[in-house]
Amino acid sequence: MKIHVFSEEKAAVLAADRYVELLKRKPNAVLGFATGSTPLQLYRELIRRYKLGELSFNQATSFNLDEYVGLDGSSPQSYRYFMNKNLFEQIDIPLERTFVPCGKNCSEKSTVEYDAKIQVSGGIDIQLLGVGRNGHIGFNEPGTSFDSLTHRVQLSRSTREANARFFRSLDEVPFEAVSMGIKTVMNARSILLFAQGEEKAEVIQKAIYGPVTEEVPASILQLHPFVELFLDPEAAKLL
Ligand code: GLP
Repeated sequence: MKIHVFSEEKAAVLAADRYVELLKRKPNAVLGFATGSTPLQLYRELIRRYKLGELSFNQATSFNLDEYVGLDGSSPQSYRYFMNKNLFEQIDIPLERTFVPCGKNCSEKSTVEYDAKIQVSGGIDIQLLGVGRNGHIGFNEPGTSFDSLTHRVQLSRSTREANARFFRSLDEVPFEAVSMGIKTVMNARSILLFAQGEEKAEVIQKAIYGPVTEEVPASILQLHPFVELFLDPEAAKLL
């Protein structure tokens, strides 16, 4: 694991360089994107670089980590909506090549098909990750099997509470989501994990130095051959 400790702004610039390098070398790269507050600065930086002409996504394909069950792209709280607004509509990626797990009116096979689509696309080149305070990656809550592929998950109360800020009230936060599995994430060729703020310090310490255990889903990253962590000084303060 390579660990970088920088301000959020500097981390975004450095991580954006990874995308510039990748898309120059492989214009049809496959990108794994994440939602939440954590990646927003990176998305702003990618948009800035795109506008400067430093990179183009017009041959790229993307797969998002997760989606709430019961919400479709017209709902402002859905992750599809979040990605369209915060990234896709501001760069040149063809929307039909941006994939987010199905949250509403899904076929029974939609989760299996999601993994199949990733494989057919050639596999994910860079998977972006945030981390939940309980160590979740995507929506893979503690206890999720390391062998999991894309699947439906029950959200823990702490995750629902953490995400309630995006909804009018806690009651409106869905109880379930669809998430890429841990194995799906681990199959990515490289992983960039971002964490900011003191509230992530404990889980970051456990993920990096603690035992590799399903109780801390992010700890599996210790076994991935190419992971870079971009931490701000608060998230890194227990290292
Ligand atoms: C959410 C998402 C995760 C995200 C995490 C952290 O529940 N499903 O993919 O990484 O929680 O969110 P934030 O970046 O807002 O702290």
